[in-house]
Amino acid sequence: MTVMLRVDASARLGGSITRQMADRFIEGWRTSEPNVQITTRDVGREPPSIVSEASIRAGFTPPEQRTPDMKATLAESMTLIDEVRRSEVLVISAPLYNYGLPASLKAWIDQVVRPGETFSFDLRRGDFPIQSTLSGKSLVVLSSRGEFGFEPGGIRDGWNHLNPHLRTVATRLLGIADEDIYEIASEYQEFDDQRHHQSREQALHDAAELGSRLAGASVTA
Ligand SMILES: Cc1cc2nc3c(=O)[nH]c(=O)nc-3n(C[C@H](O)[C@H](O)[C@H](O)COP(=O)(O)O)c2cc1C
Repeated sequence: MTVMLRVDASARLGGSITRQMADRFIEGWRTSEPNVQITTRDVGREPPSIVSEASIRAGFTPPEQRTPDMKATLAESMTLIDEVRRSEVLVISAPLYNYGLPASLKAWIDQVVRPGETFSFDLRRGDFPIQSTLSGKSLVVLSSRGEFGFEPGGIRDGWNHLNPHLRTVATRLLGIADEDIYEIASEYQEFDDQRHHQSREQALHDAAELGSRLAGASVTA
């Protein structure tokens, strides 16, 4: 049975395109694997705490030397890390906000990526001392944008810092291989025209199709 973590980052509950995409992805998955086990972490509704001086100090103190206060400070992070650790598939639904990540999703990343928990740091590795201690997971990024043309050669090429950021975090810090990252996006939401209708319908269709396809591959593996 596949264990999946769904992370929703839209601040909108009603009318959110990214949440609908995640719903469709899961519906598609369930057509191949009805018993998939899904944990939902709704960071749009309940944003995680942002990193503080206290949480950095606690995180960099060896576990056996942590005070009860430090352990309490890290409790939220440990819960979020545990959800990632036991999941094989991470599904992140995330709008593009101001050409980047919603702050709630960035806060989630900063709580999840921690030395000694999700990565190790060793200067004997030379110029790349960081190595993830996680492996074998896949990542699905379901996004929506109000504008369009973010693809290579498009009129906003280089303006989308959400997908590249998530890809770097996934590959460098969460041990996810490039080829195990899947991305679907709806565009034109702010134009609310035929192009948006078509892009949204295509994204919802593609999300369901991807869910069913990945589930089929995971069930037969
Ligand atoms: C605070 C905020 C910032 C946004 N910034 C951008 C942006 O920089 N570029 C863009 O294309 N769309 C932007 N949008 C539009 C959203 O990406 C779009 O409405 C998307 O559909 C939101 O996801 P949701 O439907 O799941 O809520 C922004 C929307 C909000 C609310």
